[in-house]
Amino acid sequence: MIEKIAELVLNCNNCVVLTGAGISAESGVPTFRGKEGLWGKFRPEELATMDAFMANPDIVWEWYNWRRDLMGKVEPNKGHYAISDLEKHFQNFTLVTQNVDNLHRIADTKQILELHGNINRNKCADCGKVIEIEHDIDPGNIPHCDHCQGKIRPDVVWFGEMLDADIISGAFDAAERAEIFFTIGTSAVVQPAASLPITAKQRGATLIEINTEETPISGLADFVIQKPSGQFLPQLVEYIEKKKAGE
Ligand code: OAD
Repeated sequence: MIEKIAELVLNCNNCVVLTGAGISAESGVPTFRGKEGLWGKFRPEELATMDAFMANPDIVWEWYNWRRDLMGKVEPNKGHYAISDLEKHFQNFTLVTQNVDNLHRIADTKQILELHGNINRNKCADCGKVIEIEHDIDPGNIPHCDHCQGKIRPDVVWFGEMLDADIISGAFDAAERAEIFFTIGTSAVVQPAASLPITAKQRGATLIEINTEETPISGLADFVIQKPSGQFLPQLVEYIEKKKAGE
């Protein structure tokens, strides 16, 4: 399987990689679903919706501070770095991530579309202006927007919210052009991200799934690799490099 995928990589120009929480699991970032997932311990409607923020902004900020703190302490793993290495083999490469943890940027992938925002950024809950704040947010004293006085919130997408129109249309454009589409570490159940691999496949892309478990997309995929991404991706990159060097 690895040989066939390596050959595809070496013979295609357009690649899209979609990642979800699973790519960061080996860095120590909890996923959302599954036994140990965040949504098994916390209620999303109390923490990740605009209604929750309006009702209890302090609780929402406490939760985001905890996640910021956790994500600030972890580092990209071999899977993140292997994706950055993979990027170099393609004329057109787009990484579409549902993750807000910033680890793909730290691992130096260049073409990134962050579908669900970035946990390190803040924005105004009313006018949406992105606000640079150096210090931590005090849940008991939430700062206000310098433009409209709205409360500051994390710049992530919450349940029931629209994604940034340019980012999602960029992701679908890339999926339509893709010759190879990797879906990595995502349960593939949250829309619209879950439609990207389907779009790519319908347009003729070879679909490759890397996930420790079966997902709703597995049946559609041309290759299903049931291994941790931090294990398989470096093996793939190493194989590609050797093949390229004629070894
Ligand atoms: P999920 O938690 O739903 O799924 C994580 C996936 O990663 C599962 O399918 C696991 O089997 C897989 N996985 C775990 N460890 C892995 C590893 N080492 N290697 C490969 N795969 C592994 O996370 P997402 O699909 O990212 O949205 O969830 C999508 C969205 O739902 C998130 O962006 C978030 C959440 O609610 C918002 O916050 C808007």
